[in-house]
Amino acid sequence: MQTLPGHGEPITCSGPHYDRAKEAKEFDETKAGVKGLIDSGVTKVPRLFIHPPQNLHNLSPDTDGAATGLQVPIIDMRGYQDSRREDVVNDLCRASETWGFFQIINHGIPVNVMNGTLEAVKQFHEQPEGVKREWYSRDNAKKFRYYSNGDLFRSKAATWKDTVYFDFSSGAPDPEAVPLICREPVFEYERHIEKLKKSLSELLSEALGLDSDYLGDIGCMESKRFVSHYYPICPEPELTIGTINHSDASFLTLLLQNHHGGLQIRHQNQWIDVCPVPGAILANIGDSMQLVSNDKFKSVEHRVVARKAGPRVSVACFLVPGETQKSKPYGPIKELLDEDNPPMYRETTFTEYFGFYLSSGNGLNGESVLPHFRVSESK
Ligand code: OGA
Ligand code: NI
Repeated sequence: MQTLPGHGEPITCSGPHYDRAKEAKEFDETKAGVKGLIDSGVTKVPRLFIHPPQNLHNLSPDTDGAATGLQVPIIDMRGYQDSRREDVVNDLCRASETWGFFQIINHGIPVNVMNGTLEAVKQFHEQPEGVKREWYSRDNAKKFRYYSNGDLFRSKAATWKDTVYFDFSSGAPDPEAVPLICREPVFEYERHIEKLKKSLSELLSEALGLDSDYLGDIGCMESKRFVSHYYPICPEPELTIGTINHSDASFLTLLLQNHHGGLQIRHQNQWIDVCPVPGAILANIGDSMQLVSNDKFKSVEHRVVARKAGPRVSVACFLVPGETQKSKPYGPIKELLDEDNPPMYRETTFTEYFGFYLSSGNGLNGESVLPHFRVSESK
């Protein structure tokens, strides 16, 4: 039994007085998310959201960039098409090998498009409950959906956020399938992300020592899914978490975030705050890229802490294989292998990888699923 301070009576994560399934169902049926709890005036984190201490280990942001002198690398893309290409490729290579994360500046996406997107998804969440509840859904077939905690009925504790999801895996969704309030801004942002993705695909191919078209040709980042989180202010941030530690299953993730920090990444055995850089896009290498790069590029654990200040708004674009490539096997890229560099992983399809990722609860316990795909004989 877990007793947590500050709640008058012992709080149990299980036990006769706590019917978690019932509380989860009641919360889900409000269709108002965590934002709805805050609007209704809660001053304590409901038990459904209270995490066991091991999930919250070392939550205080006492290891921020300033304190440790460590900061996610900033990559300036200016001149990447001509004079500075080699520098940009080298910077990308170093950042992908060491940090697995980098903040990109001068990437070509106009600031007003980025801010317009953040504002639009924020406004979606801040609409009257009666308006947004129409969009609340757990139906994976929907190209747009709004929900709180995709894993609400499987997780041991819920996280302090609400989410909207846009499925661009087969191109732009039918406009009618997306709420008017965020339709145009997100569609426009996606068109810019497509261009940035093409440039990064070439630059990362070169950073791996391959032809510029290599990653484009294998279609590993063909498809996009946008997952946008809204992290409301939290009255007791020490009891819960915004996003539990995890690594992304994607090939590459491109993240837009507002000025409220809270994202932390695991680097050199400590949690480092990612300080938002105005106008920057934060990129991170996903598990699938680590696999095909045969461990040259690193997929790094990260999480989002709950905070008293907010709301934090983020828009993650997960770059994954397209519909036709999802069931095609991917393994360590042959050109990167030789006698001294044997394959570290077996081949797998993205569908298999992602299925295993979801079923093993990667988002719940923070344990990478990559080792499951390792070749057992490898060192
Ligand atoms: C994710 C993620 C970070 C954020 O959705 O995988 O890590 O800031 N999001 O919301
Ligand atoms: Ni992530």
